[in-house]
Amino acid sequence: MQYYEDIVKKRNSCRSFSDRKVEDAELMAIREYYEDEESDLVDEIGTELLFFFGNVHEAISKSVGYNGICFKAPVYMVLLSDKADHYLENAGYIAQGITLKITELGMAACWMTINDAAAVKKALDIDSDKEVACVVAFGYRAEDNDEKAAPKISLDTLCMGCDFKTEVDTDLFYPELEDCLRACAHAQSFQNLQPYRMLVDTDRVYLVGLPSEMTNEYDTHLNYGIVMFNFYAVMWAVRPEAPRWSFEPSDTDLKLPDDVTYIAKCRI
Ligand SMILES: Cc1cc2nc3c(=O)[nH]c(=O)nc-3n(C[C@H](O)[C@H](O)[C@H](O)COP(=O)(O)O)c2cc1C
Repeated sequence: MQYYEDIVKKRNSCRSFSDRKVEDAELMAIREYYEDEESDLVDEIGTELLFFFGNVHEAISKSVGYNGICFKAPVYMVLLSDKADHYLENAGYIAQGITLKITELGMAACWMTINDAAAVKKALDIDSDKEVACVVAFGYRAEDNDEKAAPKISLDTLCMGCDFKTEVDTDLFYPELEDCLRACAHAQSFQNLQPYRMLVDTDRVYLVGLPSEMTNEYDTHLNYGIVMFNFYAVMWAVRPEAPRWSFEPSDTDLKLPDDVTYIAKCRI
């Protein structure tokens, strides 16, 4: 399927950017996407999109990035959000849509872990009641940057049957569903740990979270939003009336072990 092949599969994180300027027209295209086309998980939660340029990495180097390393990028996108139930999944979902839009525009991006959201707000002089929920660095890839996508879990590892104790034959997936699930298997996650699984029933898929000691609370929820967006975006490309994810409880017993968490479900 085109969207999966051209956008989701082609994307990989970028940590070395060229000095090429991101033009106003490109920033405008991203903003228009956010304002007019963006899909979210929880409509009622207010968000705000901000762009920062220049020597921002110095200002936020202590508050974002693995091991306190914030690399230099032409633009840093910050998504602010009201705090409410599922606000981080919602923010992760929205920001992943923007990240894929950045890919579509021929640029590259990298999610940055937030070590101290309040410090980011202070360092960037953000005057808002909303919280810093996501930081994504983006711009044009440096010409000598040969970063490859990190290896991802297979479809067979990601997917289970109607409950956590049942195996699924992934060869039986119809092509659209297979692409949606491959898009999930290809999603970005903190340290590429991919601590989640998808249970695939005849009419629903369920997202469940695996325990991950290394992933903090923030990134745990952002990961879920990112993977839910990838599923939705690939489904939406062929079925614009595609059902949306719901945080309502599961209607069946998913036989989850105690340390596995039910997250959300989506009709298929
Ligand atoms: C919530 C989140 C936080 C991340 N934080 C960082 C980070 O601070 N530094 C970094 O280099 N990469 C970061 N990444 C990028 C992941 O390491 C990357 O997505 C993963 O290794 C998979 O590689 P790929 O994006 O090339 O497919 C983050 C990704 C996510 C989803």
